[in-house]
Amino acid sequence: ITVDWTADDYQADGHEHFMHKEIVEQPEAVHRCLRGRLDERFATAHLGGLNMDPREAREFRRVKILGCGSAYYAGQLGAQFIEEVARIPADAEPASEFRYRNPVIEKDTLYVAVSQSGETFDTLVAVQELKRKGGRVVGLVNVVGSSIARECDGGIYLHAGPEVAVASTKALTNMGVAFALLGIHLGRIRDLSPADGARLIAGLQRLPEQIEAVLKDEERLASIARRLSAAESLFYIGRTRGYPVAREGAQKLKEISYRHAEAYQTSELKHGPLALISPDVPTVAIVPDDDLVERNTGALHEIAARSGPLYVVTHPGVELGDVSAEPITVPKNETELDPIVLTIPLQLLAYHASRELGHDVDKPRNLAKSVTVE
Ligand code: G6P
Repeated sequence: ITVDWTADDYQADGHEHFMHKEIVEQPEAVHRCLRGRLDERFATAHLGGLNMDPREAREFRRVKILGCGSAYYAGQLGAQFIEEVARIPADAEPASEFRYRNPVIEKDTLYVAVSQSGETFDTLVAVQELKRKGGRVVGLVNVVGSSIARECDGGIYLHAGPEVAVASTKALTNMGVAFALLGIHLGRIRDLSPADGARLIAGLQRLPEQIEAVLKDEERLASIARRLSAAESLFYIGRTRGYPVAREGAQKLKEISYRHAEAYQTSELKHGPLALISPDVPTVAIVPDDDLVERNTGALHEIAARSGPLYVVTHPGVELGDVSAEPITVPKNETELDPIVLTIPLQLLAYHASRELGHDVDKPRNLAKSVTVE
């Protein structure tokens, strides 16, 4: 086991906060996560650390992902990616819930534990329980040699570098990248075509520059954050792969700006929350350029009709029609990889909202970077 950095190497380097430094470091962090892992000849990902030969990897009939907080939301994204690309049924559950149930552990399920720190107690105990019952667990972990990394049968290190701010940014982005690598790897030993493997690999390679492009929009995002921070309560909405993005965006805002933000599936709006939409309750809507774009813009009309202020995280060319909304446009990637880029502006919105409100961005009240207690 090698540790490639120490705490002394790591300073805020002229940034006002660690969170800002960590947001800005993301293009480089993604590069590190991809380095040496892409195999263009066979359009797949090399993941030697999984300690799993192809025959074993073909046997899994289900993937179950466990993590807490943002790592759980990353797991929800990962589950959708794996199911879509490798066609293996996959889902995510908070490790903190899983460990208190009496879950059925199946030998043809691949269990995946996700954790930045590798020390989150609930996730660690979930892994230990799985191992005790003979489950096969791999870890998506940032900190090399951490407790969870040591307990797992193998894994994918995130290589995001040290993360100090309580609100996870670059580690979370690299969780998305690592899940994509895992999905491509599992897919290419099943039915994912070489052409689709190559398409996704090219998409992964475009991520650093696309994230860079979002970061260039920081000034405008800061001015939007100023307006958002004036609201006591907000909605974040998205559907399918946009929903974990909305959850993560709402979580970030809650964690560091102490504003109430609720994430909802856009499709479920009409089943309840529409009643709460008013000029005082802004909505941040995730509207990617995908096959649900018309359905999503329909929901925006419902919100606009109730005079709800709208901020729409979207792609170039998406027509919002006559809806009055502030667009936040990010570069388009492959549909399956879009959530990674769509999350970036939400980090900057939360960061600047917190800063605007004068809170301790890096160390929000009542929260710890890694929860190592029960
Ligand atoms: C804490 C932090 C969250 C983090 C979660 C999981 O609750 O406040 O930001 O997402 O733990 O941490 P991990 O290190 O396991 O990813």
